[in-house]
Formats: sequence, structure tokens, C-alpha cells
Amino acid sequence: MSRVTHLLLSAFAAVGLAGPLLAEDFQGSTHTLAYEDPPISYSAQKPNDRVAKLQAQIASGEVKLKWDDQFGWLPALLDALKVPKSSQMLVFSQTSLQRHAINPRNPRAIYYDEDVYVGYIPNAPMMEVSAVDPKLGGIFYSLDQERQDKPTFTRNQDCIQCHVSGRSLGVPGHFVRSLETDGSGDMISGTDTSEVDQCTPIADRWGGWYVTGQSGAQTHLGNLVGVTAFERHKTEPTLRDNLTELSQFIDPQKYLRPHSDIVALMVLEHQTHMHNYITRLNYETRIMMSMYGHIRYLKSQEDAFLRYLLFTEETPLTAPLVGDPQYVKDFLAEAKRDSKGRSLRDLDMKTRMFRYPCSYLIYSPAFDALPTVMRDHLLQRLYDILTGSDTNPQFAKIAASDRQAILEILRETKPNLPDYWRAKTAERASDPAITAPAKVASSAP
Ligand code: HEC
Repeated sequence: MSRVTHLLLSAFAAVGLAGPLLAEDFQGSTHTLAYEDPPISYSAQKPNDRVAKLQAQIASGEVKLKWDDQFGWLPALLDALKVPKSSQMLVFSQTSLQRHAINPRNPRAIYYDEDVYVGYIPNAPMMEVSAVDPKLGGIFYSLDQERQDKPTFTRNQDCIQCHVSGRSLGVPGHFVRSLETDGSGDMISGTDTSEVDQCTPIADRWGGWYVTGQSGAQTHLGNLVGVTAFERHKTEPTLRDNLTELSQFIDPQKYLRPHSDIVALMVLEHQTHMHNYITRLNYETRIMMSMYGHIRYLKSQEDAFLRYLLFTEETPLTAPLVGDPQYVKDFLAEAKRDSKGRSLRDLDMKTRMFRYPCSYLIYSPAFDALPTVMRDHLLQRLYDILTGSDTNPQFAKIAASDRQAILEILRETKPNLPDYWRAKTAERASDPAITAPAKVASSAP
């Protein structure tokens, strides 16, 4: 986008182009920010993500990836990045730079953890890998599936054709789609695609994906291949739901695991969008600060961010979701627990996703790398919501017991919280977005 368009868009924001419209905008298909212009300069910046770090270790000889005759770099790469194999999910809609290699017999496998994503298609010439840089958002790399001494991740400009758009909140990022596909994995013409996040009803999810695990009588679009299957699904809503393995569709030997795990999918759909929100708020803040020196125009963006962080609009579950226990084990291995043993990673998966509805990405380097003015301001607002002094109806749905639990968990597990978070009877500091935060004496923990 040109500097002029960017100025125009920011000018709209400045005159408050109707608050509600902007709020909508930020949540759904949103305009692309000027990510190649200062102060962001996405492609010109050297990323500092986990793949970039691994690349440096490979170059220096500190890490050596072992080639596998069947899977190429996949197993060694997952091990080096500590990405659990149990996170495997299989997508057969033809959405990738290598779309020709993907079909319902040869789906793409995706593996991930909290800030790295790895895409693998059996027999494809390259792997597609991405990582979250704390300041820049999603960084996209290709890795040739060719045996060599030191494999090289190449930052690939072709990726951002698809990975920066309204689907990723207008910043370089990640997303998940659901669409109806024909027998070859191509979209059935005349049907819709939807971007999936934690707010998407289960009934609309997983078109174009394989799904293993239990979801009870809750209908979804997973495991439906071809027009006939989608037609039958209209009268048999749980057609091909509740599968434990996928050998009726694929040769499981071609993948590391027999699953495309339902719980891994749920977490992915929360996480991809949350990452985009963090990146978006980072970019917006830097742009606002460089233009106006304050962030007062970002109120509706912050609201949307906090609603997503606190799951206020998440879709309810009507039956428990049960996947591969190994995935849950691996996901919980990274849990930070308080003295009562509680963690923001604890899953519910009965009526909602998490036991304590506040995203674990609040611990992420990307959250902490938000410009201080925004990070301080968000933490102040979050504190006010959790202590009940913010009575805005947007957050009214969060139960008092959940607020209390989240507050206690964060106090014990999140380093670098402002002092007033620890104070027993904390006073509300004045708004740090407008003035410097007031000093409140710390007496705890
Ligand atoms: C033609 C559009 C397109 C291009 C080009 C593309 N992707 Fe994607 N990519 C997608 C879509 C769509 C998804 C989401 C999966 C789905 O729902 O099908 C995705 C998903 C991914 C994922 C899984 C995480 C996520 O966002 O869901 C990774 C990793 C990924 N892509 C990496 C890459 C890399 C690396 C490149 C460049 C080498 C690339 N992609 C190029 C469309 C594309």
C-alpha cells in the first residue's frame, strides 16, 4: 500500500470513522496495514524468530539436522524445534503454494506449537514453515526437501501473497479456512469459504480437513470429500464424525501419526487468530505513535483484542471434544502453573475451550514485545476487567469466579506485571495511554 493510502486510512481512524465500523473491521476482514513502510518495514527487517535462530545454529554447526529417507527434514526439524508430532492435522483443500501436490489422498500435514508452524506434503519438493517474530508477526520460509549438509530456510516472498490479507487481520500472519471441496480438494464452485477462529460455530468448521476424535452429536464438516458427501451430510449431520483413524481416506504410513486431532485443531484456531491480533495491535500502535504520539484512537481495536483474549465471544460446545491424549499431554507440558496447580493452558473442551478463559499467548514474547505504551495500557484494562472495576457490558459474561482465578494465576505466573497487580488493595492507576501510570505501592506477593 502506498504511503498516501496509509495516511488516508490512518486519517479515517483519526477522525474515528465511526467507532463501531472500525471494531467490526478489526474483527473480521480488515484492511491491510502498510507493512512494508516505516515504522514496520516488514521485509527489510531481520527476523528474530525460532526458525531464524535454528538457521543460525545450523550454519554454525551447533545443530545438525538428520535427513530421513521417507520424510526428508520433517522429523529432525520437529525435534530441533521441539514441535510435538501429536499436533499433526491434515488438510486436503488445495490451499498452499504447492496446491498441485495436495489432494484428499495426499493431504498436507501441519504441526505446530505456540509460535512455530510446519507444513509437510508427502513427496512435495519443499516444506512450508513459519514462525512468529515478536515484533514482525508471521515470517514465512520454504525449506527444500533435498539432502544436503546444511539445509537452508529461505524467507519466501510468494507466501505473503496469501498470508497477508483480511483473513490474517491485514498483517503477515496465520489463519485456518473451512470450505466445501470436490473429490480432488478443489473448492466446489458456488459454495463459501469461512475463516475459522474460536468464535466460529463447530457446525461450520473443518471443511477441507480430516478430523479424528470425538465430538458427540455436534455436527461438523470434517472428513467430507466430494459433492456427494456434502449432499449426504445435509440429512446425516454426523456423517463421518467421531473417527479414530483415517485409513479409509489415506495411507497413514505416509504421515508421522494416524491422526488429524480435533483438540489440536481447536487450539490452532484460537491461536492463529490471537497471533494476528497481537501483530495487528503492535503495528497499529507503532503507526499511531509515529503519526500522533498517542494511542487514543485505538480504543475499539483494544476492545476487540481483549474480548478475543478473554474468549467472550467463543462458540459454546454442546458435547465434549476428545482427541489424542498425547496431544493434550504435549500441550500441557508447557503449562505455567500457580501454587494451586492451575494453568491458563488447562483445557475444558466440554462447554468451552479452556478451563480459565484467558489466552496463554499472554505469556508469549509477542505480547511482551507490544510497544510499552500499549502493553501497559492493556494490562491496566485487563486488571480492571478481572477485578470487576471495569463494568463494560462487553466483558459482563465473564464469571466472577473466572476473573478471580485468572487474576490469581497471572499474579503468580506472569513475570513483569506492573506493581499494582500485586498490591492487595490496588488503586486504579490513571490511564497510561494518556498519562504516565501512577505509582502504586507494592505489598505482595
Ligand atoms: C495460495 C495461497 C497460499 C500460499 C501462496 C501460501 N499459503 Fe500457507 N496457507 C494457506 C492457507 C489457506 C492456509 C490455511 C490452511 C487451510 O485452511 O487450508 C495456510 C496455512 C499455512 C500454514 C499453517 C499455519 C496456518 O496459517 O494455518 C503454514 C505453516 C503455511 N501456510 C506456510 C506457508 C509458507 C511458508 C508459504 C510460502 C512458501 C505459504 N504458506 C504459501 C494458503 C497459502
